[in-house]
Amino acid sequence: MILVTGGAGFIGANFVLDWLAQSDEPVINLDVLTYAGNLDTLRTLDGDPRHVFVQGDIGDAALVTTLLTQYQPRAVVNFAAESHVDRSIHGPGDFIQTNIVGTFHLLEAVRAYWSALEGEARQQFRMLHVSTDEVYGSLSRDEPAFTETHRYEPNSPYSASKAASDHLVRAYHHTYGLPVLTTNCSNNYGPYHFPEKLIPLMIVNALAGKSLPVYGDGQQIRDWLYVKDHCSAIRRVLEAGALGEVYNVGGWNEKPNIEIVHTICALLDELRPRADGTPYSAQITYVTDRPGHDRRYAIDASKLQRELGWKPAETFDTGIRKTVQWYLDHQDWVANVQSGAYQHWVAKNYSERTA
Ligand code: NAD
Ligand code: DAU
Repeated sequence: MILVTGGAGFIGANFVLDWLAQSDEPVINLDVLTYAGNLDTLRTLDGDPRHVFVQGDIGDAALVTTLLTQYQPRAVVNFAAESHVDRSIHGPGDFIQTNIVGTFHLLEAVRAYWSALEGEARQQFRMLHVSTDEVYGSLSRDEPAFTETHRYEPNSPYSASKAASDHLVRAYHHTYGLPVLTTNCSNNYGPYHFPEKLIPLMIVNALAGKSLPVYGDGQQIRDWLYVKDHCSAIRRVLEAGALGEVYNVGGWNEKPNIEIVHTICALLDELRPRADGTPYSAQITYVTDRPGHDRRYAIDASKLQRELGWKPAETFDTGIRKTVQWYLDHQDWVANVQSGAYQHWVAKNYSERTA
């Protein structure tokens, strides 16, 4: 049995689905269901006794303690977080609360549980904290990619809150001996990605005939990894990672944003041409940049490859094609997550961005 937090969000849900596709080890899934959490994503697990969903907050130490005591998991994998940079700029409070205070309460509950374990159960227990490359800050064009020893230079309220959580996790290992592992991953994309993030937003807007809002000059670089490759990396680190160690996860796929948008347009031109026969790229609009926008992220994942033998299965070409096809095939899922709260966010974020 493992306890997964944030398992109704984009990466957490992909992780739970992949885990149960490959193993019969049950999962307790603790998720408070913010706007980003969606039980529809987990619909195929309805009635599956290997999946126990609990709606609740990682900051609710009493609830976490009850779950740990009742189910006695051998591991905790922490995905729960506020994750969208633009939202952290408009309102940092929730990011401080969940990513810092919530992680602290989770750590306290896990520490008490682990301290009381004995023998093999205590030896084998792990807590894996899922983090981001954004904690390392921004790279110039010719700097080498982030390694695990790159200094922390977070630039947004989101990345600062994730950096703080990483430090807490590290401190719980050094101070109390808590058996932790941390992964810092680059930008993910794939099925069930909430359409506030670049790739799903562009696909969804393109199909709806809306503008494709590119921030600033569109030359910011991100390093993209197909979500299922992130999930396989987490499984591998959980299985064989050295205690207290940090592992960077990435796909060696650095791309400027504008190239990503053109790739999506070209795939849609092929798979679902516009009725008027003109290209989707006609919908691209340059808008006001994100404040403090990090210019470039790049992950050096060679430690994970060298020490644990992990490699991504998808190239960017295969992954992005699968992703565009998935959105074409799952427009009901998209419609379902585009609630009133989603419409409100889109209006708020993009009204201030003039073309
Ligand atoms: P997401 O926003 O899609 O999902 C987050 C999930 O956490 C949601 O289901 C939400 O309901 C839940 N949640 C939020 N606050 C909670 C709380 N207090 N208690 C319990 N559940 C709570 O995020 P994601 O993209 O799936 O990211 C998951 C994790 O991976 C995050 O920690 C993020 O920082 C990290 N990460 C994301 C990326 C990426 O590209 N998306 C890359 C690297 C690392
Ligand atoms: O690097 C890992 C991080 O990647 C994760 O930790 C975050 O949780 C995740 O949200 C993601 O952060 P980014 O800010 O890189 O992702 P986002 O999809 O919001 O933006 C990707 C790039 O595209 C970024 O340079 C901003 C730009 N962008 C984004 C949106 C939503 C646009 O140009 N237009 C847009 O409308």
